[in-house]
Amino acid sequence: MTWTNILLGCLLCCSVKAQHTLTVAVNEPKATIQPTMWGVFFEDINFGADGGIYAELVKNRSFEFTKPLMGWTVKQRKFREGTILIMNKGRENINNPRFLRIKADHAQAGDLILSNEGFRGMGIKAGLRYDFSMMYRQESANLKLHVQLVDSTGRVIGETVITPSETGSGWHKAKASFTASETILKAKLNIWFEGNGVIDLDMISLFPSDTWKQRPGGLRADMVQCLADLKPGFIRFPGGCIVEGTDLSNRYQWKKTIGPVEERPLMMNRWNIEFAHRLTPDYFQSFGLGFFEYFQLAEDIGAEPLPILNCGMACQYNSAELASLADLDPYVQDALDLIEFANGDAATTWGKVRAEMGHPAPFHLKMLGVGNENWGPQYIERLQVFRAAIKSKYPDIKIVASSGTDPDGERFNLLNDSLRAMQIDLIDEHYYRKPDWFLANAKRYDNYPRNAIKIFAGEYAAQSDRGASPNNKNNWLTGLSEAAFMTGLERNADVVTMSSYAPLFAHTDGWQWAPDLIWVNNLQSFGTPDYYVQQMFSVNRGNTVVPVTMNGNAVAGQDSLYATAAIDSSNNEVIIKLVNVSGRPGRQNIVFHGTKKLAKTARMLVMQSDDLNAVNSFDEPEKIAPREVKVNMMQKQLPVLLPPYSFVVIRIKLGE
Ligand code: AHR
Repeated sequence: MTWTNILLGCLLCCSVKAQHTLTVAVNEPKATIQPTMWGVFFEDINFGADGGIYAELVKNRSFEFTKPLMGWTVKQRKFREGTILIMNKGRENINNPRFLRIKADHAQAGDLILSNEGFRGMGIKAGLRYDFSMMYRQESANLKLHVQLVDSTGRVIGETVITPSETGSGWHKAKASFTASETILKAKLNIWFEGNGVIDLDMISLFPSDTWKQRPGGLRADMVQCLADLKPGFIRFPGGCIVEGTDLSNRYQWKKTIGPVEERPLMMNRWNIEFAHRLTPDYFQSFGLGFFEYFQLAEDIGAEPLPILNCGMACQYNSAELASLADLDPYVQDALDLIEFANGDAATTWGKVRAEMGHPAPFHLKMLGVGNENWGPQYIERLQVFRAAIKSKYPDIKIVASSGTDPDGERFNLLNDSLRAMQIDLIDEHYYRKPDWFLANAKRYDNYPRNAIKIFAGEYAAQSDRGASPNNKNNWLTGLSEAAFMTGLERNADVVTMSSYAPLFAHTDGWQWAPDLIWVNNLQSFGTPDYYVQQMFSVNRGNTVVPVTMNGNAVAGQDSLYATAAIDSSNNEVIIKLVNVSGRPGRQNIVFHGTKKLAKTARMLVMQSDDLNAVNSFDEPEKIAPREVKVNMMQKQLPVLLPPYSFVVIRIKLGE
């Protein structure tokens, strides 16, 4: 069925709401929409980084998980004590101390097999090249390693043989590539040993060759593409609560995430233990996706980088551990050094580190978040110290500050008042609320002060069940209510200059938190209805808000209708976004003031479902996604029939 038919069908079979006239004043600019308006929030939650966008297929490649053989199994035909030992390098590499010592005794096929299960299996594609590598050390070269990808029955679907040749006391790297013969969602990696001898192994790694931009050791291309397709104005990283850590020792420290991957110390991911109902004991951070890679990702997808740093406070839901003000210096220094790492030239200490990692040009960092969801006077005290230090050295860097976990209440009010008194650049507001809240808050920013303090709607998502409940679904109700709310963000683009849905990614077998914008398994990814809502706003951003009114008022819930309009001067188009949250279709007659010339037809992108519980899935990834139709102008007016439960974006050329 075509969309025209659906629209006609609606007219014939459903009761239609009263007709409204909407007036778009194309010559009355109200606010500039910043390029940063619609961005993304990245956190290593739900296997977002390790097991997700970081394309490493081997779990626990360096044996540094709390249980050193987690993810690995060893099969020996004849058990011999000491065949496999977990050794510690000690001072030789305190960041990556453990390694595996294998003693093979005249081993042949099937005698001694080391197996890695991957992150809930390994997603393998037929015909694709896979790059295996490992660090090794041996006194004499007597062993062959047979590296095989196998399916659940043990059938080999790709293999290579490595004969490590270097000997002596130093560590060496061996590499081999091979092509997989089949596509398997949950393969595993076997290494069996042939020969008689002892070998030390570390950093056992397997990457697909089709990473984003084919970077060795890089990111999963389909997942990066999902981000690139959003055309995000910024990317906030690395979180989220992960910034805070369960305690200060578990906080995110960017300096430990750069340099050679084998020297980035592994750490337990805080989401490993956060939810008793979603325990994920094998969730650790390898930091293969570290701060250099985050900046590079931002650059690749044309997004402004927005790093968030720990402010000397651990998660207040967990330990609530505080660094005393007297001990805050290293935290503040991390912030100053980060700015130098991102922007300094190669003659500076940290700019040199960036240049040596392969990026001599600066990353053009313009803003920095201090603290994630922190609150209380302790937060304000620490923020003040950070702000003084950052502004005195880098006055142009904008500081993003937290307004806590909730968009209202005592905690929010204290922070909001204090941050405004401090004249902070951007206030980060979070709202994980029911769909009704989003509908009721489309006017939230209409009465916010119009001054230099801007809002970053830094984390939001409508919850179909309740905050962070595992029963939350990304259904059409959540997407539609977010769309309605987002019209209010755009209408108030002079106050809200940035916004991002959260969280971003979830692995279908490894998630802790729902809802999430994009769901993945080991091979595929799909966008939820909420994803397409974000995309519709972002790719149809425009640069200047103009009024769209009903009886002289902003359209923010009257007769279940929400609207915003903007001019896109690069195409000379007016863009109108309309949301109908009613189960009945609605006729709108759009009239345009301030222009005599309009194209005869308009492009209309429609997201719609009669079923508010409808969701996208791996089988039906675009069940709820935009479809394009054309609508004709009639005597300089645009008649639009909005289907029930629909979000519509209309683009029409001016001046033709
Ligand atoms: O988005 C998931 C979590 O929600 C974030 O880590 C945190 O900032 C918020 O509580």
